[in-house]
Amino acid sequence: KILILDFGGQTCQLIARRIREFGVYTDIVPGDIELEEHLTDDVKGVILSGSPYSVYQDGAPVPDKKIFDLDVPLLGICYGLQRITYDLGGKVAPLATKEYGRSKISYQNKNDLFKDIPDGFVSWMSHGDSLDVLADGFTLTALSEHNLPASVCDVNRGIYGLQFHPEVTHCEFGTKILENFACGICGAKKEWSMETYIAKEGEKLRERVGDKEVLLLISGGVDSTVAGGLLLKTLDPNKVHFMYIDTGLMRKGESEEVSENLKKLGAKHLHLIDARDRFLGPLSGESDPEKKRKIIGNMFIEVQEDEIRSTLSGDYFLAQGTLYTDLIESGKGVGKNAQVIKSHHNVGCKAIEEKREAGLIIEPLEFLYKDEVRELGRILGISNTIVDRHPFPGPGLGIRIIGEVSKEKCDILRDADYIYVNELRKRGLYDKIWQAFSVLLPVKSVGVAGDARDYSYVLALRAVVSSDGMTADVYDFPMKDLLEISALITNSVKDIGRVTYDISSKPPATIEWE
Ligand code: XMP
Repeated sequence: KILILDFGGQTCQLIARRIREFGVYTDIVPGDIELEEHLTDDVKGVILSGSPYSVYQDGAPVPDKKIFDLDVPLLGICYGLQRITYDLGGKVAPLATKEYGRSKISYQNKNDLFKDIPDGFVSWMSHGDSLDVLADGFTLTALSEHNLPASVCDVNRGIYGLQFHPEVTHCEFGTKILENFACGICGAKKEWSMETYIAKEGEKLRERVGDKEVLLLISGGVDSTVAGGLLLKTLDPNKVHFMYIDTGLMRKGESEEVSENLKKLGAKHLHLIDARDRFLGPLSGESDPEKKRKIIGNMFIEVQEDEIRSTLSGDYFLAQGTLYTDLIESGKGVGKNAQVIKSHHNVGCKAIEEKREAGLIIEPLEFLYKDEVRELGRILGISNTIVDRHPFPGPGLGIRIIGEVSKEKCDILRDADYIYVNELRKRGLYDKIWQAFSVLLPVKSVGVAGDARDYSYVLALRAVVSSDGMTADVYDFPMKDLLEISALITNSVKDIGRVTYDISSKPPATIEWE
C-alpha cells in the first residue's frame, strides 16, 4: 500500500482515491503522527499531501523526522514538497503573485515519475509559496509556465516532489504520474479490488467473530445495507441480527422496504422497533431547529440503549456501517477544526461505547469510500435503487418539516415526497441529481379547489448536484417536469395547495432547510 500523510490539504482524499482507482490500496494518517506503528512492511511508498499552511508559519504541521530515513520512496505534493525542501535545508518563500490554475510544464531533466508523459502537458497549480533554494542533493526536474520549480527530485534517496496537484482532474496525466510513482518507482502491485476486499475482509471477520452472534444497527441507507449484505455473505446468517428503529420520521414505505430488502439478502433475524410515539411526543410544541435535532438525537440514543440491551446479551459483536471518511472526519485528520453549522446526530449510546471498550465492535466498511461501498453493494447483489439512493439525514423528516413537527404534517410530507421521488425515478432524473427531497413549510396560502376557497400548506422541492455535500449547486430542473410534478402533488395531496422550487446553492444556503 501507499501511506499518505495528511497535512490538511483540501485534496488529500482525492490523492487516496485516485491511487485506489488503479488498484493500489492507500491509507491516510495525520501528517504529524508518530510513524513507527504505521510503517508496516506492506508500505511501499509515502506521499506528503498539501496543506493550508506555509512551512514557515507557526503551527504548520511537521512530519516525524523518520520520514527522511525510510527505505521506501517519498513523494511530496505542494506543501509536501515545500516541507521536504525546508526540512532538508532548502528555502521556501512567498510569491508576489500566487500561481493558480492551469500551467504548462516543461522538463529540465526528466525522470521516471514522468515516464510516457509528453513535454508540455498542462498541470494544475494552487500555491502561494515557492522553492527559492533546493535542498542539498536535489535537482530541478521541470519548470512551470512562470518558470517556477514544478518538480524536483533526489533520485539517489528516492525523494520526489511536485508543486502541482496530480490528483485534481484538471491536471493532464495526473493519474499516470501517481501510477508511475506507486507502481513504477515504489513497485506497489495492483491488488486492490472489491473482490479481493470481500475475500480478505470476509476471512478477517470470520476469524474475529468465530461462532459469536452479531447485531447490526441499520438505518435503511446504503452503508448499513451493504454492511448487512457483507455480513450475511461472510458469516452464518443464523448468527446475524438486524435492528432497525422506526422513528416515525421515515419516508413513506421506508420501514417495509428496509425489511423486504434484508430478507432478500437472506436475513433471518430482523428486529423492527416501532418507536414512533417516543419521538413524536417530545417533539410536539418545539420549533427550534437545533433543539429538534437534539431531541431526536438524544431519543435515538435512549431507544437504542433500551433495545440493544434487551435484544441480545453476553459477548456478542455490534456492527456498524462506518465508512473510511467517517473515521477521518471524526478527528483523525489534521486541521479539521470545522465550525459546527448543524449538530449532526452521531449515534453513540452507552451500550455501544461499552462494546467498543470490550473490543466487540465490527465495522466491515471502515476502509472504504462511498463509491467503493456502492460497487461492493452491486457485487453483493443489492438492487440499484438502494445502492444509488440519495443521502437521507439521521433526523429524517423531523428537519424537513420546518417549525413544529406533528404526525399529521409527517403524513402530508410523506405523501408529497413519495410522489416527487417516484416521478424523478420514472422520468430518469433521479440519477442525475445528488440529493432531492421535499420540505413542508409552516405557511399556508390561499387557493381555489373546485369553486371553493382553499387554505393549505406550501411545499418546497429541493434538488441539488454535488460531489460530497460540502458544496452544492441547484439542479437545472427541466421546467416541463417541474410543472407536471407540481400539478401531480397539488392534485393528489389535499393539504398542499402550492409548490415552490428552491433555487439556492450551498453556500450560502445549506442543502437541508434546518
Ligand atoms: P447540509 O444541510 O448541512 O447537509 O448542507 C449536507 C448533507 O448532510 C446531510 N445531513 C445529515 N446527515 N445526519 C446525517 O446523517 C444529520 O443530522 C444531517 N444533517 C444534514 C444532508 O442531507 C446532506 O446530504
